Amino acid sequence: MICVVTGVAGFIGSHLAEKLLDVGHTVRGVDKFLGNYPRRFKEWNLAQVRRPGLEFIEEDLVGIDLPALLDGVTYVFHQAAQPGVRSSWGEEFGEYTHNNILATQRLLEASKKSKIKKFVYASSSSVYGDTQDLPMRETGMTRPVSPYGVSKLSAEQLCYLYWKEFGVPTVSLRYFTVYGPRQRPDMFFHIFMRAHRRGQAIPIYDDGKQSRDFTFCADIVDGNIAAAEYPGAGEVFNLGGGSRTTVEEVVRMVEEISGKKAQLNMLARQQGDVRHTAAALDQARNKLGFKPRVKLYDGLAQEWAWMQHIGD
Ligand code: NAD
Ligand code: UGA
Repeated sequence: MICVVTGVAGFIGSHLAEKLLDVGHTVRGVDKFLGNYPRRFKEWNLAQVRRPGLEFIEEDLVGIDLPALLDGVTYVFHQAAQPGVRSSWGEEFGEYTHNNILATQRLLEASKKSKIKKFVYASSSSVYGDTQDLPMRETGMTRPVSPYGVSKLSAEQLCYLYWKEFGVPTVSLRYFTVYGPRQRPDMFFHIFMRAHRRGQAIPIYDDGKQSRDFTFCADIVDGNIAAAEYPGAGEVFNLGGGSRTTVEEVVRMVEEISGKKAQLNMLARQQGDVRHTAAALDQARNKLGFKPRVKLYDGLAQEWAWMQHIGD
């Protein structure tokens, strides 16, 4: 089968493409090398995926020949986006509307006329916003607290609309803070481990007692494949790691894994950050058979091992 993976040179897209190639699919991957972090990381990600079966297209999804992209395709895995939460304020928002909303709408529009069997959209826990009502349920309130969250929710709503009005078989997956080898350099574990390896202080926002339902990348890949094979459409599922851990607890775990004490640089809370996230997984478990397999400590050890091999 031919699968389109948008954002194929990114953290999650490259892991997903690797798995799809491993199981014998052809991957038509698109990435424009958005400057959200240095290109060399994305080149490195892509190098892990460059093998027979990969067709790579370096283009912006807005402007590309979409009917040609979707020709003969069975599954679309739409991972491409500008993904940073804290950087989505001010002038930067133009990047978010272009890459997160407009690119999704163009892809959905083209999908109307295609023969795809499933369009899987990479949504985000950020659509929920700051709530005390934990765990977060798919039926719960969506009130994002960052412009990024607003853009991800808009694209998710577009996915629903194109299913409802035109029968495009979309499924949206709300990922909860994903980590593991190749994690983006603007995300906490990457920033932390890179600084820690060099013996530098680690920036900790707020009081370090904020928590996340951290999810290992391979579990997200499994959730995507299950969603593609799921017979339903027009639905939304959480994909989480299965437990909630504070930033402070993560620091203790990495100290244990690395065998050295971390120096912390306590900073103010950042605008757009939610206090806690936790995924209710019953829907994903019951309908997709989703079961997160990688425990946080083991996944952190894998990311730490990877971090030892990347340059400065
Ligand atoms: P990433 O930045 O590593 O990957 C996204 C890729 O998309 C980048 O390589 C970028 O160049 C590409 N891209 C962006 N806009 C494009 C466009 N218009 N045309 C072509 N390519 C484009 O990010 P990631 O962490 O791998 O995130 C992947 C997806 O998962 C995103 O949609 C993100 O919003 C979502 N998500 C990520 C997390 C997480 O914790 N990493 C959590 C929730 C949701
Ligand atoms: C992550 C991804 O970056 C988003 O793309 C995604 O949409 C979102 O998860 C999601 O779940 O939907 P975030 O949870 O902010 O966003 O991920 P990190 O950057 O890894 O931050 C995790 C925690 O560490 C946050 O509480 C943040 O305040 C804290 N942090 C981050 C620090 O204390 N110091 C830092 O230098 C960076």
